[in-house]
Amino acid sequence: MNQATLHQLKVFEAAARHASFTRAAEELFLTQPTVSMQIKQLTKSVGLPLFEQVGKRLYLTEAGRELFLTCRQIFETIAQFEMKVADLKGLKQGQLRLAVITTAKYLVPRLLGPFCQMYPGIEISLQVTNHERILERLTHNMDDLYIMSQVPDHLDVTHSQFLENPLVVLAPLNHPLAGEKNIPVERLAGEPFIMREPGSGTRRAIEKVLHDHEIEVKVKLELGSNEAIKQAIAGGLGISVLSRHTLMPDSGDVIILDVEGFPIKRHWYMVYPSGKQQSIVARTYSEYLQQAAKQFVEQNEHAVDMAR
Ligand code: PGA
Repeated sequence: MNQATLHQLKVFEAAARHASFTRAAEELFLTQPTVSMQIKQLTKSVGLPLFEQVGKRLYLTEAGRELFLTCRQIFETIAQFEMKVADLKGLKQGQLRLAVITTAKYLVPRLLGPFCQMYPGIEISLQVTNHERILERLTHNMDDLYIMSQVPDHLDVTHSQFLENPLVVLAPLNHPLAGEKNIPVERLAGEPFIMREPGSGTRRAIEKVLHDHEIEVKVKLELGSNEAIKQAIAGGLGISVLSRHTLMPDSGDVIILDVEGFPIKRHWYMVYPSGKQQSIVARTYSEYLQQAAKQFVEQNEHAVDMAR
């Protein structure tokens, strides 16, 4: 058997599984004579016939059956080895660099906990910043994965949508419009407005809606933080539009107004430059986030409703 190669074993395994040289050749993108030749050489190395032909059918001999079992074990062992190497290379001691837009900070850090418990050797760095800064980081390839609400169309990126990110109108508890249904969007024009800073994706989305309705709001205050805006709303300084995900069970002092055309429908995306070879850590994290995020948001929304 010293002469046998892994390639010959692969060819043999496929031929034995299909009981056909032709089908093995198709599966492995080889020609039929190549398959015959490989098996002939393998048979020589074993020193006993591996197949026998009865009528039109091909059967394994006893030596063939033994070799088939051995092949299965060999390939299984190789697959396990590959997984271990991947672990050693990545999941055991890898790095994950995330850049996340501000609204996702309510979700992403929370979900990192369970992920880190699953993969304790992974080191994580997390940048939380606004849309414009994320674009800068993306352009300079500074992180493994970017979480944002608007996929840049001027950059060559790969993206997958993983969650809704609705933008809602928030007001203080005692606001006169509280409880009113389907408030005309024009009413926003009369309200003191608290706006996110230039460069914010939230701000850009609000400005678009206001522009589409030809409405101008009175911006009373500009703040670079969703948390600060919620505090300012609760303090009676004005109303604002923020992601619904900024609401936590303890945000009971602000309410959502039912304004026509809202919520503004947006989504969160995981994004990375198309040419970038994603690490196994980044791939594993993407898969994890895809399913963990929905669960978290449902639980949080339930908790927010219960707290009201
Ligand atoms: P922002 O990001 O922090 O830039 O507003 C949120 C978003 O783009 O939805």
